[in-house]
Amino acid sequence: MAESQNVVHIERQEKVAVITLNRPDAMNAINFGMLDALTEAIDSVRFDPEIRVLIITGAGEKAFCAGADLKERHEMPEIRVKAFLHTLRRLYSDIEALSKPVISAVNGFALGGGMEMALATDIRIASMNASMGLTETRLAVIPGGGGTQRLPRIIGKAKAKELIFTGRRVDAREALDVGLVNQICEPHLLMDEAMIMAQMICEAGPIAIEQAKYAIDAGLETDLGTGLGIESNAYRVTIPTQDRLEGISAFLEKRKPVYTGR
Ligand code: COA
Repeated sequence: MAESQNVVHIERQEKVAVITLNRPDAMNAINFGMLDALTEAIDSVRFDPEIRVLIITGAGEKAFCAGADLKERHEMPEIRVKAFLHTLRRLYSDIEALSKPVISAVNGFALGGGMEMALATDIRIASMNASMGLTETRLAVIPGGGGTQRLPRIIGKAKAKELIFTGRRVDAREALDVGLVNQICEPHLLMDEAMIMAQMICEAGPIAIEQAKYAIDAGLETDLGTGLGIESNAYRVTIPTQDRLEGISAFLEKRKPVYTGR
């Protein structure tokens, strides 16, 4: 189908991949076609060793993603709703588990499943016109793409409960204040800011980044002692690497390191 081919764009800028949700007329809402296209795009990023950082954003100036496509949902039998949620949850877990950092460039509305996608990424940068919220309870359902689990882990239990129970949206400034986003900026600077951060990550050792992400994510789901053990093992992975030796050599030779991921 013509639409499913275009609902997600993926482009490469050196070591950074940019995935753009592309249904601007529907506020980049997620339908089955977009779910499939996104799954494919994430798989292609996962298996491309040249890509070191992924940025996800939305087409147009209004929305990152307004969540599930409510027009499609309106017609959907219950069994399809279940299939949609299953696929959505799996996709977001896949995004979260990518062994490379993922940055959301939130360029407007990020609601329901759209906000949950941003929550599954490692870092969120929002433009000043962002409006973010888990609005599902207002539709008499609950966040089904990981929102009840990821939001409290990011901003704390009480604030997450307030936002989920009320379904209230927060603007960029409040999102920054509560720790929902890492950074805010003027809309025209959003992709530049995301790219600057991505390029900075690309300067670091790829294996180190992979292991740091793993240690933080796996460690936070356990007690401190186990987490420190995870960190210790993750560090060990970096010790026999060529990149570790290159980092020290470059420092001593007063030059920029050239990391190869070996
Ligand atoms: N699914 C399908 N279409 C959607 C959509 C969604 N989640 N969100 C927006 N759209 C469509 C609108 O139906 C409209 O299409 P139309 O021109 O064919 O009527 C178009 O996008 C523009 O939206 P509109 O509501 O006119 O813009 P707005 O600026 O007044 O409001 C939102 C924008 C995002 C606040 C509003 O559309 C909204 O609340 N959307 C639903 C978000 C939501 O509850 N998501 C959670 C789903 S679990």
